[in-house]
Amino acid sequence: MIPLARPQLGKTEARAVQEVLESGMLVQGQRVSAFECELALRAGREFAVAVSSGTSALLLGLQALGVGAGDEVLCPALSWPSPAHAIRLLGATPVLVDVDPEDWNGAPEAYAEARSSRTKLALVIDQFGNPVRRAELDDVVGDLPVVEDAACALGSHFEDAPCGSFGVLSTLSFHPRKLLTTGEGGACLTDDAELAARLRALRNHGQSAPGEFLEAAGNHRMTEIAAAIGLCQLARLDAMLDQRAKLAERYVAALEALALDLRVQRSPRGVRSNRQTMAVWLPDSAPPRPEVMQRMRDLGVGAGILSYSLARLPHLLCPAETPVADALADRGLALPLFEGMSAQEVDQVVEALKQALTQS
Ligand SMILES: Cc1ncc(COP(=O)(O)O)c(C=O)c1O
Repeated sequence: MIPLARPQLGKTEARAVQEVLESGMLVQGQRVSAFECELALRAGREFAVAVSSGTSALLLGLQALGVGAGDEVLCPALSWPSPAHAIRLLGATPVLVDVDPEDWNGAPEAYAEARSSRTKLALVIDQFGNPVRRAELDDVVGDLPVVEDAACALGSHFEDAPCGSFGVLSTLSFHPRKLLTTGEGGACLTDDAELAARLRALRNHGQSAPGEFLEAAGNHRMTEIAAAIGLCQLARLDAMLDQRAKLAERYVAALEALALDLRVQRSPRGVRSNRQTMAVWLPDSAPPRPEVMQRMRDLGVGAGILSYSLARLPHLLCPAETPVADALADRGLALPLFEGMSAQEVDQVVEALKQALTQS
């Protein structure tokens, strides 16, 4: 079976974890600090605050920026629900913006339309690792603070800066579906020293220093075990990026050669996607997606649902007209792409997709 994702965790990671276990220092030690320094450097930021997941990073980040009851937060309509959950958990309202049919990111013109007098900030997502159109977004949001959810985008690059460097705050995830994994994990990135200090307190029971409690807060700390794994993975990030770029190039050429009207995510000119997800948008004429997925599974290939249309999740209470997000949620298909995947496996996936789409 070729799985959708297969994290590469080898002897280097095992040795690093063993060292942590032998040290007896399991939380908030030197490895978390070292991981934070490396992340900040990589993303072109002053500060990184490591936390226990990408969702915690969003929740603490928005809380630290003062998002609360009565606020509206602009949010792309196509996503894993974490950004909208963080907004709702703080008592604010997600206002959904539809995504662009080419780059699958929140469309700048939709941000402009969705803005109101209650808008607190604009949350943007480099969806599936594809950088947002930063300059255009900057123009349309004007003085509105921006938060960049770069959960999928470590290693991606805007024209002139790394992803994770946009806005007042950005967030990362280290879930196993991401390029770099720590098992579970996440981080907030910022250039604002005060914001970073508040985030450090919010992740650690509201303490500014041991025993100095400033406010009620939870425990969102990253473990030393997770950071040790993250440091090993970070040392390989450039190699991962190169490998994914080559595999994605092969995918795109092979998918185009099928001439089956499959659309892939396009990147704006001059940027680099880390290719966190390889996906196709199935045409209306294709068999229903569950059937395509089952046929591919029968041929030994794991394919998955690409993402979710947030307007359609009733518990979020934010209905909106988002036809592009709806269509991608219905007909987006994620294909296997992972470190260590071979070119031959890419060909096998494309062949399985072809058979699944053409089999009568
Ligand atoms: C855009 C986006 N933001 C946030 C998250 C949440 O990250 P985590 O799973 O680490 O909580 C995800 C997870 O897939 C995501 O895709």
